[in-house]
Amino acid sequence: MDILGKIQLHREEERRLAWEGTFGEYLDVLRERPYVAQSAHSRVYNMIKDAGIEEVNGTKKYNFFNNQIFGLEDSIERLVEEYFHPAAKRLDVRKRILLLMGPVSGGKSTIVTMLKRGLEDYSKTEAGAVFAIKGCPMHEDPLHLIPHHLRDDFYREFGIRIEGSLSPLNTMRLEKEYGNCIEDVMVERIFFSEDKRTGIGTFSPSDPKSQDIADLTGSIDFSTIAEFGSESDPRAYRFDGELNKANRGMMEFQEMLKCDEKFLWHLLSLTQEGNFKAGRFALISADELIVAHTNESEYRSFIANKKNEALHSRIIVMGVPYNLRVSEEERIYEKMIKESDMSHVHIAPHALRVAAIFSVLTRLLDSKKQGMDLIKKMRLYDGEIVEGYNHIDLEELQKEFADEGMSGIDPRYVINRISSAIIRKDIPSINALDVLRSMKDGLDHHASITKEDKERFINFISLARKEYDEIAKKEVQKAFVYSYEESAKTLMDNYLDNVEAYCNKNKLRDPLTGEEMSPDEKLMRSIEEQIGISENAKKAFREEILIRISAYARKGKKFDYNSHERLREAIQKKLFADLKDVVKITTSSKTPDEAQLKKVNEVIARLVDEHGYNTTSANELLRYVGSLLNR
Ligand SMILES: Nc1ncnc2c1ncn2[C@@H]1O[C@H](COP(=O)(O)OP(=O)(O)OP(=O)(O)O)[C@@H](O)[C@H]1O
Ligand SMILES: [Mg+2]
Repeated sequence: MDILGKIQLHREEERRLAWEGTFGEYLDVLRERPYVAQSAHSRVYNMIKDAGIEEVNGTKKYNFFNNQIFGLEDSIERLVEEYFHPAAKRLDVRKRILLLMGPVSGGKSTIVTMLKRGLEDYSKTEAGAVFAIKGCPMHEDPLHLIPHHLRDDFYREFGIRIEGSLSPLNTMRLEKEYGNCIEDVMVERIFFSEDKRTGIGTFSPSDPKSQDIADLTGSIDFSTIAEFGSESDPRAYRFDGELNKANRGMMEFQEMLKCDEKFLWHLLSLTQEGNFKAGRFALISADELIVAHTNESEYRSFIANKKNEALHSRIIVMGVPYNLRVSEEERIYEKMIKESDMSHVHIAPHALRVAAIFSVLTRLLDSKKQGMDLIKKMRLYDGEIVEGYNHIDLEELQKEFADEGMSGIDPRYVINRISSAIIRKDIPSINALDVLRSMKDGLDHHASITKEDKERFINFISLARKEYDEIAKKEVQKAFVYSYEESAKTLMDNYLDNVEAYCNKNKLRDPLTGEEMSPDEKLMRSIEEQIGISENAKKAFREEILIRISAYARKGKKFDYNSHERLREAIQKKLFADLKDVVKITTSSKTPDEAQLKKVNEVIARLVDEHGYNTTSANELLRYVGSLLNR
């Protein structure tokens, strides 16, 4: 469908979802779907829950955060189960400000943005529908219209608890526009939208001297005072602060702890009593989730200040440390690159992996566990099997430090260094070494890295490089071996012919000259030695193979390369050993001969077709591995 068609469909959808009616009619809606009256916190929780929850190895995985947040399962589980879930049940935590605390660029804003965008979408669904008093700048909950003394009766009839009082503006409108007939007050379905300032708000502090509390709670509209006659007429007030606009949904409070205190005091009563003060009016009830974020040092100095005690006790702090799993870290970079303008650049296989290895190493803390080093720890964390350790060791490691993941290299730094590596190269193709080099160069300009850190980090770069060397060598050998599949067969046939002749005490016939020859002892031994068969054991081994071949023949099956596990291993190892020189010579020859050139082209074609390289990165890989093997 073309874009105009989609726009039209979107408009039709909006029309279909719209609802408007009197308060009396709204009560009918409530009778059928009481959940539409849920609180803001409950709506957030249900949004997350409705997206699906899976349990993997005892950890809950929330589909809501899939594809955007990687490696933070534990933090997300805490966030949902210790904050949103109890808050949805109207427990006390919902009266606290949620403060996400973690290192720079560790995903805090991403989590908040997901919640905001999620709520916008959720309010368009049946389950997430929200209704409000029509024409109210704060989208006030229609149930506030029910007078306090009737609320117990309402609860008995509807099973819904009402919190909060009708705002000064709607109190006046009820009187003036509706002649106090509650049932006639118009109600409409609203759809959260940050752009339209409905139910989603963001407050970010600017210069404390010039910033006005009006940004948070609205202000007098002087142009209308003449019309309404008084500053305390609610109609002369613009309820357009972020707290007003975010009512029913959520407000993100950026840099909350950098903010001037006078802004924070407003939050005190909002969170505790569910209301805040604006202008000269009675308290205004609001129902919204307030999420703030900060880093560790800012948070420490905040709690060190006695003056902040009252506020501190109204904050729930949730740690959002860095991800500590290499594979997940790779996914973070993949996502960030896809979202950036670098997506056209070829990034060679393993380039992001080595970057991830480096950053995770910088975040890990040294364990006191016997024999444990950071590389092993990194592997265990990533779910790999490390000899001598099991899942109990892993759990012990994870419990050893409470603040692991609160420092180290951040994803944004990595992405910046990748883009600077791209700029430095003429061709839009970068490899693992380019990335590591760029990461190293960048350390000089990294603002928050101490001299000791720098030394440690440079050491991690060489560790990551060593990991890469192994990966690279294997990759090239694999590419060579496959082209040698034929030779593996030839080598095996040759070996079997010789074994047969040896066991039957026959001679072999040279296929060219027809001359008789004795079995090639040297060839057979060179293969057998690969799997540790001694001179004394060779006869038994050869006979066993012959028996196996005739057993196969009796069943009409063909004995081949894969029929004998140990023999196959021997052949493979022999090929690899022979190959080592071939790879070495082929990849490092300055003036390759025709045959070498052919081989190189074959290998490159295979790396491109089957392993995700392009010709540039495949050539670079071969050259690098050549230099490694020549050391
Ligand atoms: N665990 C993670 N999963 C997915 N993406 C992540 C993760 N950590 C960081 N990112 C990515 O890193 C970038 C920076 O993250 P974000 O802005 O959310 O961090 P932040 O904690 O708000 O940082 P700051 O303290 O600098 O505001 C984003 O592109 C984000 O997608
Ligand atoms: Mg942020």
